[in-house]
Amino acid sequence: MKKVLVATVKPFHPLAVKGIKEICEKSNLKFSLLEKYGDKSELLNAVTDADALIIRSDKITEEVLDAAKNLKIVVRAGAGYDNVNCAKAAENDVVVMNTPGQNSNAVAELAFGMMLYLARGKFNGKAGIELKDKKIGIHAYGNVGKNVARIAKGLGMKVYAFDPFVSKENIEADGVKVMDKVEDLYSQCDYISLHIPLLDATRNFVNEKYFSMMKEGACLVNTARKEVVDEEALVKIFAERKDLRYISDIAPDCRKELEEKYPERTLFTPKKMGAQTMEANVNAGLAAINQIVKYFENGDVTFKVN
Ligand code: 3PG
Repeated sequence: MKKVLVATVKPFHPLAVKGIKEICEKSNLKFSLLEKYGDKSELLNAVTDADALIIRSDKITEEVLDAAKNLKIVVRAGAGYDNVNCAKAAENDVVVMNTPGQNSNAVAELAFGMMLYLARGKFNGKAGIELKDKKIGIHAYGNVGKNVARIAKGLGMKVYAFDPFVSKENIEADGVKVMDKVEDLYSQCDYISLHIPLLDATRNFVNEKYFSMMKEGACLVNTARKEVVDEEALVKIFAERKDLRYISDIAPDCRKELEEKYPERTLFTPKKMGAQTMEANVNAGLAAINQIVKYFENGDVTFKVN
């Protein structure tokens, strides 16, 4: 019997775990659960006899892959798979998949929750600002970006997007205006919502150049990855400009400094919360186990990323 290990430092909602377990039982797979593990050694022990692995932001390093002697497939229940050493997985004949789109509404909703909270002065009782009629620039128009556009339109925002990998027609079909240059997004929008994946090409992407061209009072909203924002440039621009705001679901290393110096201009979640809803956990968790079942039953590699 093949073993499926669900290894999540940040646990899924219990309904997602229950659903994964039921599908395993129906499909003659052995279900195993490792949640909230504190130490890497717990993961290294648990993976030794796993044939399939379901993870979230858990780091699947060379060491983990080498310890997992029976491993055939890793499914990242979520979108970004920068936490998996995909090249090493390929070398070990391990298929890596993600579950695109399954948690994207949750991430988009959190972005607006954070935008509203900061716009209303963290509910300090003083007059805040509204989102209606403000320009929002969506940097990368994937599944989360599309949901951000839908919600932004409902709030009466003016919605723009930049994404060289999505056709103009597809973006415009959603009633979103396309920016031909990423610079225009940064220089013209009141809110810039980041949805770029973490790649070598996007590491520290939002640097001094882009910060310095931001509009007066503009707000950068990061529900993507900490590493796509250049923190040195962030600290520098916050000291120079008293108007810029930064919201992030993945707190920067300079979090303490920014929060202490600029509490009214910054907002960070205590822990990455974007995908942390019952619905997103169930959607992504069940998609992950269903992809594993299909892979074992007929070699389906639809969502393979390596
Ligand atoms: C993703 O890439 O899907 C999101 O960043 C969610 O990550 P999480 O599963 O660790 O919350």
